[in-house]
Amino acid sequence: MTTMIFIIKPTLACNFRCKYCYLSAESKVTTYMDLEFAKRILLEIKEQYNSHQKLEILWHGGEPLLWGIENYRIIFEFIDKEFTDVRHVISMQTNLSLITDEFIDLFLKYNVSVGISLDGPQNINDSERVFPNGRGTFNTVLSKLRHCKERGLHMGCIIVATKKHIGRIPELYNFMCDNGINFKMNPLFISGEAKRNESELGLTIDEYVTMTTELFDLWFYDKKNKINNSKFIDIASGLLTRKMSLCSLGENCQEHVICVAPNGDVLPCGRFCDSELMHFSYGNLHNEHYCDVLKRIKESKAYKRADFIKNSNCSKCKYFNICHGGCLHDGYINSGDFESKTFMCSANKKIFSHIESRLKETGLMQI
Ligand SMILES: C[S@@+](CC[C@H](N)C(=O)[O-])C[C@H]1O[C@@H](n2cnc3c(N)ncnc32)[C@H](O)[C@@H]1O
Ligand code: SF4
Ligand code: SF4
Repeated sequence: MTTMIFIIKPTLACNFRCKYCYLSAESKVTTYMDLEFAKRILLEIKEQYNSHQKLEILWHGGEPLLWGIENYRIIFEFIDKEFTDVRHVISMQTNLSLITDEFIDLFLKYNVSVGISLDGPQNINDSERVFPNGRGTFNTVLSKLRHCKERGLHMGCIIVATKKHIGRIPELYNFMCDNGINFKMNPLFISGEAKRNESELGLTIDEYVTMTTELFDLWFYDKKNKINNSKFIDIASGLLTRKMSLCSLGENCQEHVICVAPNGDVLPCGRFCDSELMHFSYGNLHNEHYCDVLKRIKESKAYKRADFIKNSNCSKCKYFNICHGGCLHDGYINSGDFESKTFMCSANKKIFSHIESRLKETGLMQI
């Protein structure tokens, strides 16, 4: 069964100013999706559902909690009522700073799967994840995180790997274990604010590979802690089954991912919501029905990228089945077109090979 991910960004506004944010400060405008519009697009999306799919309705941003408790109360109840015959999950990616007991009650009631962002201990996190006045966000987020855990809310965390992590992977890993935080570490990509701060943030491919393989080994050989790393698990199971579930490494993300911006524009994914990339909009749901926009998606260069990649040198790659040229957006920022593989190619090969060697060494994979 495939999962269809609908990313809904009810706002691009944010109460943080992370130095690497792929949304530029100018993109973070304080406009909010209209509640009735959100209901209508959910019904249009539901019309396209088929029973071989599971839907993930992912609330994203900007900072999605800024949309406010009342809107979420209404929309979650609406989804619960209207999507009874649809296999679905609700999820949210948030910086967590604005969470309250009312939100926690709501998330527990509707089984919302919550992803948070934190880049490690205070001295690492606070160099880049900051409030608009430059103050670090760590204390706010960690106290909210602890409260959420006490209340029984399960969360996974995204870490963005930048220069600040060089030489500090054991410290990062121990922090995650000590606080019982399931996590995955993603590479930085250069867009939005990250463009402005590239020289102070950016890693070389080799630095990223060294950090990722070190982190993998700490996690893989750790007999004591039971921290989940969904990305390592996805790659390892991809190597074992030759199938990939991560959108960034799948065959054609445009069959499984779509993003609706606060203004109603439909975009290839959330990363295209930066003001410089909004011209890739497939159409606007204020003017058109979702089924009409869908037809256009199939004709787009972004959708057809999977065919370009199949006919490129990637098809000869040992890891083609679990990489498919990598993320569409990473390919675009690599080259300015939709025909190119990801800038992470050589990193991916080294990381896959490292994980493969560990699986072989422990007998999980045949030599
Ligand atoms: C844009 S934020 C939106 C949701 C929410 N504000 C948050 O921070 O979780 C979504 C995720 O993208 C990550 N992110 C932002 N800019 C990035 C970049 N340039 N490269 C890689 N990941 C980035 C964030 O750290 C966060 O985990
Ligand atoms: S990464 Fe998330 S929290 Fe940080 S500025 Fe961007 S949208 Fe806001
Ligand atoms: S590892 Fe590189 S060559 Fe292989 S499929 Fe991925 S992007 Fe293409």
